[in-house]
Amino acid sequence: MEEIRNQEQHRHEEDDDDDTISLDGSFFFNDNYQLTNFTFGSQEIQLFCLHAASTDFDLTGQVVWPGAILLNDYLSKNSEIFQGCAVIELGSGVGVTGILCSRFCQKVVLTDHNEEVLKILKKNIELHSVPENNCPTSHGLVAEKLEWGNSDQINEILQNHPGGFDFILGADICFQQSSIPLLFDTVKMLLLVKEDRECKFILAYVSRAKTIDMMIVNEALKHGLQMKELPGTRHIVGNLEGVIFEITLH
Ligand SMILES: C[S@@+](CC[C@H](N)C(=O)[O-])C[C@H]1O[C@@H](n2cnc3c(N)ncnc32)[C@H](O)[C@@H]1O
Repeated sequence: MEEIRNQEQHRHEEDDDDDTISLDGSFFFNDNYQLTNFTFGSQEIQLFCLHAASTDFDLTGQVVWPGAILLNDYLSKNSEIFQGCAVIELGSGVGVTGILCSRFCQKVVLTDHNEEVLKILKKNIELHSVPENNCPTSHGLVAEKLEWGNSDQINEILQNHPGGFDFILGADICFQQSSIPLLFDTVKMLLLVKEDRECKFILAYVSRAKTIDMMIVNEALKHGLQMKELPGTRHIVGNLEGVIFEITLH
């Protein structure tokens, strides 16, 4: 009898083992980046990206989003505004916006919080850097890790770039409710640095949920920021409505 019970228990344990699903993280991860061409007005850019995102929690930055298309079209048409400026981009992903900007700006700091995204971002920066004096960032392009709301990381960036920035850029970075207040905290810290002339946050926003549409207006208000829609920037991108906002301290 005892032996039968033992056999039963053994069979149950085996059944439990059968129920365990073993899939390692690499099953959901794709880093088969493709060299891809983009055209924005008269500007052509070639860089590595995926054409569809990995099935993972936060690898949204591996693909180029509709907000980047909207912002890059605006930048290529208004490049004179950015001539010689210092720019920081938040949530850069593969870097298509910051890299375009480096053609007009004096300095562009591209940032992201995701380690895998930072790897492909750095690879794309290398692809676009002019190797002068063996310095891979001689073109004014640099990547830094920045998690919104992390004041240590923000302060480190400001120590490395003490003059602050003329523009903060963000393309398609308002899609997750929990990170929007932290995004605005970060923007406010960066806006406050520039004393001699006004710094502006240029946000290419693609509307996917009414709650987020309202949330960004409320967060701007809560942070004491002025938000205005840039005329002529409301367009359909990737079947959704996008618009560019200019957000400032006054
Ligand atoms: C939707 S993708 C947009 C990427 C790129 N700007 C574009 O338009 O193609 C959002 C980017 O923001 C980054 N991101 C998301 N949450 C973040 C956070 N809390 N701090 C910093 N970066 C974040 C992601 O890693 C990703 O690269």
